Amino acid sequence: MNYHVVIPAAGRGKRMNAGINKQFIELEGIPVIIHTLRVFERDNLCQGIVLVINDQEREQFVHMLHRFEIKKVNALVSGGEERQQSVYNGLKAVNDGHIVLIHDGARPFVTIKKIHELVQATKGTGAAVLAVPVKDTMKQVIDGHIQKTVDRSSLWAVQTPQAFSMPLILDAHERAKKEQFIGTDDASLVERMGQRVVIVEGEYTNIKLTTPEDLLFAEAILRARGDQ
Ligand code: CTP
Ligand code: MG
Repeated sequence: MNYHVVIPAAGRGKRMNAGINKQFIELEGIPVIIHTLRVFERDNLCQGIVLVINDQEREQFVHMLHRFEIKKVNALVSGGEERQQSVYNGLKAVNDGHIVLIHDGARPFVTIKKIHELVQATKGTGAAVLAVPVKDTMKQVIDGHIQKTVDRSSLWAVQTPQAFSMPLILDAHERAKKEQFIGTDDASLVERMGQRVVIVEGEYTNIKLTTPEDLLFAEAILRARGDQ
């Protein structure tokens, strides 16, 4: 089943504290966003990419796409203040396609195998996300005191891509906008409509580059892959 993908890359990367948008940080000489785009560039099921960017960085993005010969980006859309607004702007630029994936620009290690499992899983409910079981013991804490130990067996850490049927995710974003609801991911906008979202077990290596130590993990992941 073919799909389109919206990639939000319009954040500031404040927690990375690198002085630049973390999308531009180089891993093995290649910018993070290019690592991410290459996965979709290589996937034959991917019909087109909508890349959401900060307008002030447009020239840099255009230059990079050209330099690294990325061909599938068919729209460079301006982002908004919140990730959710950036994604919504991106969704509106997807002009055809039945299934749309939403994937963070800052998550360069997703595999084509998992993308295909995810796309398959949308066949039932029209909504599916990659997620991994939580490994740590989780406590609920208020004012520095443990309230309780949360049952870990039902906890999953969600990742991107998240995959949806196009009408469902557009409707979810439009409703959230109208009702001024901001969720931390796209699935939450679908969940609040009472729609079921399927979990597809992902990989622990599909990390989001968020804080500086994530770059150490990123280098290790790339090195391990190179050795294979
Ligand atoms: N993003 C976006 N538009 C925003 C905020 C975030 O397109 N207004 C994108 C980021 O570029 C990133 C993804 O959404 O690829 C996930 O967001 P996050 O990891 O929070 O990135 P930043 O917002 O850039 O980082 P921070 O929150 O530390 O500033
Ligand atoms: Mg952010």
